[in-house]
Amino acid sequence: MPTDWNAANAADEYLAAADALDWLDLGYRLVFDALDLDHPQPGPVLDYGCGPGQVARYVADTYGHQVIAVDVAPAMLDQAAAHPHPLVRLHRVTDQALPFLADGTVAAALSCFVFVEQAHRSTQVAISREVRRVLRPGGRFAVLTTHPDSAGIPFSYFQFGEPGRSYQPGDAMTTRITTAQGSLVLQDYFWPVEVYRSALTEAGFVDVSCQAPVPPHPALGRETTPHPPVLLVTGTAPGPAAPGDPNTH
Ligand SMILES: C[S@@+](CC[C@H](N)C(=O)[O-])C[C@H]1O[C@@H](n2cnc3c(N)ncnc32)[C@H](O)[C@@H]1O
Repeated sequence: MPTDWNAANAADEYLAAADALDWLDLGYRLVFDALDLDHPQPGPVLDYGCGPGQVARYVADTYGHQVIAVDVAPAMLDQAAAHPHPLVRLHRVTDQALPFLADGTVAAALSCFVFVEQAHRSTQVAISREVRRVLRPGGRFAVLTTHPDSAGIPFSYFQFGEPGRSYQPGDAMTTRITTAQGSLVLQDYFWPVEVYRSALTEAGFVDVSCQAPVPPHPALGRETTPHPPVLLVTGTAPGPAAPGDPNTH
């Protein structure tokens, strides 16, 4: 079972953990750079799986973009709604569908630490397909996740997977986030780099590429190990789909 974000206090504890550490050091700056958020965008930015909304608010505050922040967990959206921002719109999603967004209307999209929560690869593909549908042609999608090749490595803020254990695709994998206030344990799944990459290509993204910087790197804060803590997968939405394209949602 993946983490139940609607369980008592789970959403509060996640936001408290994010507040307690410098969450930006978990690789989010790679995402903002990959999406070129420093520049004006022809439409809103989509944050898929926004959690308690700290990333959406940061994007709105720092770059001045409108952000559509969506999540499946009502408790996470309640947490996000408790900190309203005039540029951030919240929506609940079910079954990875974004019916409130027309085709080709979103400028750029990000999804941080969401794909690793999926027990099934097909859900990663479904998310990617729907994001591709709503992105304008040429719009970029950035997926940030824990780096599967670093399972079991102790990083300064977190560790995912057990040391010395070999994981198979789809295996359950615990992620432990450690802050000054204690530990938060999340139930994630192990997926190899190729699975993340192929979710985007199968959904019809082009120019799909992966980045995995190692410390020291400005986006990775105080990490010191020679291992990549995070993986960034990016892809570009192609031109409008032809009629009958199986990638159309
Ligand atoms: C670890 S939290 C990350 C939150 C936020 N993106 C961040 O970086 O802080 C993962 C979030 O993804 C959401 N999520 C997981 N699967 C989802 C799905 N299929 N559709 C929408 N949201 C999903 C969860 O409810 C949770 O809020």
